Amino acid sequence: MEKRNLLKDETFLQHPYILALVLVLSFVVMDPFQMGPVSEHQFRPVKHDIAPYQKVMKSWPRDNMSRLGLHGKLEFENQVFGPESLEFDNMGRGPYTGLADGRIVRWMGEELGWETFAVVTSNWTEKLCMRGNDSTTSKQWKHEKTCGRPLGLRFDKENGDLYIADAYYGLLMVGPNGGLATSLATHIEGKPILFANDLDIHNNGSIFFTDTSKRYNRVAHFFILLEGEATGRLLRYDPPTKTTHVVLDGLAFPNGVQFSKDQSFLLFTETTNCRLMKLWIEGPKRGSVEHVADLPGFPDNVRINEKGQFWVAIDCCRTSAQEVLSNNPWLRSIYFRLPIKMSLLARVMGMKMYTVISRLDDKGNVLEVLEDREGQVMKLVSEVKEVKGKLWIGTVAHNHISTLTYP
Ligand SMILES: *[C@@H]1O[C@H](CO)[C@@H](O)[C@H](O)[C@H]1NC(C)=O
Ligand SMILES: *[C@@H]1O[C@H](CO)[C@@H](O)[C@H](O)[C@H]1NC(C)=O
Ligand SMILES: *[C@@H]1O[C@H](CO)[C@@H](O)[C@H](O)[C@H]1NC(C)=O
Ligand SMILES: *[C@@H]1O[C@H](CO)[C@@H](O)[C@H](O)[C@H]1NC(C)=O
Repeated sequence: MEKRNLLKDETFLQHPYILALVLVLSFVVMDPFQMGPVSEHQFRPVKHDIAPYQKVMKSWPRDNMSRLGLHGKLEFENQVFGPESLEFDNMGRGPYTGLADGRIVRWMGEELGWETFAVVTSNWTEKLCMRGNDSTTSKQWKHEKTCGRPLGLRFDKENGDLYIADAYYGLLMVGPNGGLATSLATHIEGKPILFANDLDIHNNGSIFFTDTSKRYNRVAHFFILLEGEATGRLLRYDPPTKTTHVVLDGLAFPNGVQFSKDQSFLLFTETTNCRLMKLWIEGPKRGSVEHVADLPGFPDNVRINEKGQFWVAIDCCRTSAQEVLSNNPWLRSIYFRLPIKMSLLARVMGMKMYTVISRLDDKGNVLEVLEDREGQVMKLVSEVKEVKGKLWIGTVAHNHISTLTYP
C-alpha cells in the first residue's frame, strides 16, 4: 500500500502539471476529516524568496566523478548517532560532536573510543535518553525535548570553554573538563528560544547564534521548509551583561553561522531559500545584509578553513516539482493536506537527494564542488570541517561520520 502511494507520488512530482491537476481535483475531497499530516498545526504556506532552480544549476559546477562518494570513508558506524557538528579542542583532541541522544561525546583514540563529555540538562538519564541506533529515528522524538539535542558546537580558543547551541535548551557553555553544561540563554523578549541551531564566537566574547523558527521546533522542522515561513532570527548573547539581543529577524530557516577570518563579516545559511547570506559586522556596510550565493540544494552549517574559505554542507538538489510547489503556496496547502503520512511526504519530497559539499570564497565564488551522487558515504550532510588535510563530515540523521583526505 505504502509502496504504491510512493510510486504514485513520484510520478506526480516528476510531472508538475499532472501534480497540479491532481491537486486541483483533490481539493474537492480535501482533508474533510482533518486527517492530513499538518492538520494539528496552523499550516500557512507562503511564497518565499528562492532563486529559479534552472538559473542556479546553469552556473553551478558539477562533480561528474562523484569524488566524495568515490574517495570518502565511512567511519564510526553505529558508534555516533546523528553527529551534526564536529569540533576539536585547543589540544587538538576530537572530534567532539553532539548526538541525537542528547550527549556531547568526544573521540579519545582507538584505545579509549568515544567518551561522554557533556550533557545539556540535569534531566538527562541513560534510561530515558540512550536509544543507540534508534536515536536518529522517530523513537527519540518525544524524548528530545527532555534529553536535549545539541546541534552547533564551538570551542572558545582562548580558554577552552565549549559553547553549545541546543535545539531545545538554547545557548549553553561547558568548561574544558565537560560535565553538565551551564545555560546562558533560553529566552528572548520574554519568550522561549524555540530552535537554537548553530553559533560562532566573536573575539570580544559575544556569541552569535541562530534561532531557526519562532513557530516550529526541531522535530517539526519539515514544516518550516514546507511553509516557507520566515520567523527565524540571528541572536547575540553578550557575556558581560548576560543579555540576549535580536540581530536579524524574519529569516527563512537560518541555520549555520560562521565569522570571516578578520571578523569583519559573518556568513549564515537560509535553508528554506537555499542560499548563503552575509552580515557585515565592521566597516562602512556594518549592519547590512548581502546575498552571497544561491545554492543547488538545502544548506546546513558553514565552516571556515585555515585559508579563510568557507565549506558549506548541502542536501542536493531541488527538483522542478519542489520549484512549482515553492512558487505556489496554494498548491502546497492542498498537497500537504492530503491524508498521507508525513514521513511518506517527506520521503517523496526528499527523493533522489544526495550530498554536495562546496568550498566558496567570501564573494560567493565556488572554488570546489564534491558530490556523493549515490549516497555511498554520506546522506543528509550537516557540516564539513577541514582540519589538517582532512575533511570531517557530519550528518544529523545517520549513525556515522564521513571523512575525506583533502586536498
Ligand atoms: C558534467 O556532466 C554534464 C552533463 O552530464 C556536463 O554538462 C558538464 O560539462 C560535465 N562537467 C565536467 C566538469 O565534466
Ligand atoms: C526537568 O524536568 C522537570 C519535570 O519535567 C522540569 O520541571 C524541569 O524544568 C526540568 N529541568 C530542566 C533543567 O530542564
Ligand atoms: C546498531 O546496528 C548495528 C547493525 O546495523 C549493530 O551491529 C549494532 O550493534 C547496533 N548498535 C547499537 C548501539 O544498537
Ligand atoms: C562584540 O562585537 C559585536 C559586533 O560589533 C557587538 O555587537 C557586541 O556588542 C560586542 N560585544 C561586546 C561584549 O562588546
